[in-house]
Amino acid sequence: MKKIGIITSGGDSPGMNACLRAVVRTAIHYNLEVVGFYRGYEGIIDNKHCVLTTTSVSGIIQRGGTILKTARSERFRTKDGIKTAAKNLKALGIEGLVIIGGDGSFRGAIELSKEINIPIIGCAGTIDNDLVGTDFTIGYDTAINTVVEAVDKIRDTAESHDRVFVIEVMGRDAGLIALRSAIASGAEALIVPELKNDIESLLKKIKNWRSSKSSKIVIVAEGDEFGGAYKVGDLIKKHCPEFDIRVTILGHIQRGGNPTCMERVNASLVGFNSIKALLSGHKNEMMGIVDKKITYTPFEKAVKHIDKLNEDLVQMIEILSS
Ligand code: F6P
Repeated sequence: MKKIGIITSGGDSPGMNACLRAVVRTAIHYNLEVVGFYRGYEGIIDNKHCVLTTTSVSGIIQRGGTILKTARSERFRTKDGIKTAAKNLKALGIEGLVIIGGDGSFRGAIELSKEINIPIIGCAGTIDNDLVGTDFTIGYDTAINTVVEAVDKIRDTAESHDRVFVIEVMGRDAGLIALRSAIASGAEALIVPELKNDIESLLKKIKNWRSSKSSKIVIVAEGDEFGGAYKVGDLIKKHCPEFDIRVTILGHIQRGGNPTCMERVNASLVGFNSIKALLSGHKNEMMGIVDKKITYTPFEKAVKHIDKLNEDLVQMIEILSS
């Protein structure tokens, strides 16, 4: 193998740059040429690329976002788009591909591998942490730290006014950001798509919150069954008019910012090992880290969403926020 391609794809996440840097520098160490395509699959379809050198990835380990830019490519969902991408990769002599992205990107990889027979390795990159086969996805640690910092600030004002705050965090199909950040911020309640949220018992719980508790925080994952934090806030307002309620949507601040130390190390580890994986014959697998060990999961399995939350963690919120 002499020449590989790389893309960052789907929603950006802090740590993608650290991973890219590791991929490029490891590849160069093993005498591989690295071609970076801009804006994910869009760049492969449009032949927008550049050769990445050691210096192209200088000074980026600490930066959020992705210097290669990213996109959720609609064209890559079509047969034509995939065929054009495969044709362009062949013409450029690309012999292996590294994709830093989430489930949509890996679904794309499955389709691409039907059109071109080159090994593809995925580095799990999404703030949602919802891929099967890894304890950690690039961006998750930074995102949960961003959420905790924001909730701590909201807690200050909630305390001062004796208010209930309903805070919406990201996670279109997954409540993992909500779960971890709820524990770390001492939230009183959690609403996530993975749990059957019984609004009756939530309202009962809210009514029973001890009066000495001056602030109450409800963390809602955006993919919840009630339709988001505003809907949950309205429900609480209707049934518990005695509470002064405010709603905050944290939004895209969760996707940006400097990656945490853990993020940079894990992203580098995954990027470094993706090249070793390509060179040792792995193909069409997502690199992950499970119990501190590098793991490989076939794309087909990785894209199946984690639909169960750790019950201990869920119970902890109940007991510790009493
Ligand atoms: O997939 C990561 C994620 O941040 C989700 O949690 C969120 O629903 C989505 O991306 C938002 O994506 P965008 O605003 O880029 O369309």
